[in-house]
Amino acid sequence: MNVYDSERMAEILAPLGYRTALKPDEADLIILNTCHIREKATEKVYSDLGRIKEIKDARIAAGHPLLIAVAGCTAQAEGEEIMKRAKYVDMVFGPQTYHHLPEMLAQAERRRSMGGGPGRGVLNIDFPEEVKFDYFPEISNPQGAAAFLSIQEGCDKFCHFCVVPYTRGAEYSRPAASVLKDARLLVSKGVREITLLGQNVNAYHGEAPQGKVVWGLGRLIRALAEIEGLERIRYTTSHPKDVDQELIEAHRDVKKLMPYLHLPVQSGSDKILKAMNRKHTIAEYLAILHQFREVCPDLVFSSDFIVGYPGESEEDFQATLNLVKAVHYAQAYSFKYSPRPGTPAALMDNHISEEVKTERLERLQSLLREQQTAFNKLMIGRILPVLWEKPGRHREQLIGRSPYLQSVHAELDSSFIGSISSVKIAGATLNSLTGEQLTV
Ligand code: 5AD
Ligand code: SF4
Repeated sequence: MNVYDSERMAEILAPLGYRTALKPDEADLIILNTCHIREKATEKVYSDLGRIKEIKDARIAAGHPLLIAVAGCTAQAEGEEIMKRAKYVDMVFGPQTYHHLPEMLAQAERRRSMGGGPGRGVLNIDFPEEVKFDYFPEISNPQGAAAFLSIQEGCDKFCHFCVVPYTRGAEYSRPAASVLKDARLLVSKGVREITLLGQNVNAYHGEAPQGKVVWGLGRLIRALAEIEGLERIRYTTSHPKDVDQELIEAHRDVKKLMPYLHLPVQSGSDKILKAMNRKHTIAEYLAILHQFREVCPDLVFSSDFIVGYPGESEEDFQATLNLVKAVHYAQAYSFKYSPRPGTPAALMDNHISEEVKTERLERLQSLLREQQTAFNKLMIGRILPVLWEKPGRHREQLIGRSPYLQSVHAELDSSFIGSISSVKIAGATLNSLTGEQLTV
């Protein structure tokens, strides 16, 4: 989502004469787009800011000004704190204010022209009435053949560990007509694969093109699949509670919908799921996976896991390992629980020690790595269609993605970039596949 947002910010700034600098010390404006999901991400903001301050000092000494901005979820959650701790920051603004970037920038420039400090910089952590998407300029410059497209933002789920409902705000779905318009535009600029984005993407309930009724994600996917030239559709991130029949049926009927589903479960223990306020049980989650597999036998799953949630016993953790063994994930992300200020879980009194969290994470990740490697090795000998995205590290080598989102390397000339062609898989490791061109 932050990659997508950063691209939108670049597009908003383009009419003001800004373009992307190649190096930070060549920039007139540096926007640090931040994440607040775990403590580590937030700590990184302050260490990155320290480095950016050095760049600012060096530029000012050389007679070139530099404005520093902090955007994203840490800006939203810790705006005041950033202003206090890092007085050299000129602008701090949250995720729902990006369409106000030109005014905020004008304000910051005015302040700088009056000598900068000691007064504070521009702070905007509002959740405005109007919807930012309505004010974004037309997507002008997709970064390749695979693009992100935000269709939904915010979250009303309030999992007890998570800051997203506070930093991104309430759930909002973009009207289907404007999603379809953006998708057509992306395709006209060479995009072949679109990943629909939302914090809770399958909670999508956008106004239908004819108005009045509302479309769910399944319906939207069917409409997108009709766009000629669009070859692949993906979506992320989904919540088990919002999986409906229409979405399952889309996986049955829509060939362009890729057979890879990121459906985070977080824990394999019903007790922990309840404590997390996830609103479903393991039996329900497994029933959903079963339904997907029934209609689309080659669908593979990915998930997020949190280990060491407050109150997680060894038995609860074992339940997570057992779930992983039962499902066989193609890929997964796993994290140590990180207490976040303002969330209910942070206030619980049964926190797990860092040592135990580290040890559990290692055991879980070792199992997940094993499964991912086994899944990748299953591909050896198969012929897979790959969307070639960029040059590899070696000459005449390209990197692309399989339908299962695996990274594939093959010796191919650069004319293949932006197109889909099949290769025979000759090798597989934890993180990638090697493909060989088919001989005709
Ligand atoms: N601690 C650890 N992981 C977290 N996630 C969200 N909040 C936390 C937290 N407080 C993880 C969840 C989510 C992913 C995006 O980040 O697994 O699915
Ligand atoms: Fe956070 Fe996802 Fe839960 Fe929403 S559904 S609160 S974004 S973990």
